[in-house]
Amino acid sequence: MVSDIHADIEALNAILPVIDAQNVDKIICLGDMVGYYTNPNECLEIIEQREMVCIAGNHDRGAVLLKALNRFGKGARLAMPWTQKHLTPKSKLFLEQLPVTKIVDDSFMMVHSSLDPHPDTDFYIRSEQDALPTFNALLQEPSNIKICFFGHTHHPLLYEYNNGEIRKITETTTFLNPSCYYLINPGSVGQSRDYDDRASFAIYDTQVQTISFFRVAYDRTSCLQKAKKAGILYKKSGLSKQWKNMKMFAKESYPVFYGFVRNIVRSVVPFE
Ligand SMILES: [Fe+2]
Repeated sequence: MVSDIHADIEALNAILPVIDAQNVDKIICLGDMVGYYTNPNECLEIIEQREMVCIAGNHDRGAVLLKALNRFGKGARLAMPWTQKHLTPKSKLFLEQLPVTKIVDDSFMMVHSSLDPHPDTDFYIRSEQDALPTFNALLQEPSNIKICFFGHTHHPLLYEYNNGEIRKITETTTFLNPSCYYLINPGSVGQSRDYDDRASFAIYDTQVQTISFFRVAYDRTSCLQKAKKAGILYKKSGLSKQWKNMKMFAKESYPVFYGFVRNIVRSVVPFE
């Protein structure tokens, strides 16, 4: 299970051997294959070669003019015209044809952001409270599916719904309870946002019903340098370690204040 590759070929090439070593049956890609970085066509080539099961993310739709530029934050808006200009006709056709949701093997659902509101509204599931409308949508699914994989936040975690109670789980490996519902995010391959620069992905073992998260180090500097050279590196995409540490300190020391300030900032800049 991969998501949010964002045209970062270094990250994609780093995770594939690790995924292969796990002997997976198929690779599921939850969207945002392009945007931010400079190798969209190369990444899409690999995605097609590997026959990944894909849905569209907001950046994929923006790249082929199916979503307006003003729906994106500053970093994305800086890179989007570059991506639109450099996509090959083959890549454009591939992205244009992607659905926004998909059910796989009658056993799980895929969506990039959330099921409710509509998958194309780019709502961020960042808390148990945010997860509730999507759980309600899943509960009403006639197919009886209990698992939905999503991306968009770039944070690896899962939410478990058990008789109206929602619990956030960040363990490396989780056994799925057959009576519970789950929203599972594998994190981002190309642009992690959880203070860990390594590429993130998850493995769903359908035999033993486990979700396991993986992190893989890669040459992030090359990716950022190429973006800088192309003039599309937004300053926050390459945040310094000191700034990240300051944010982490504020988050851990004053969680209520941090959350309050963060919500104000996000109410002004809602899209990333
Ligand atoms: Fe993304």
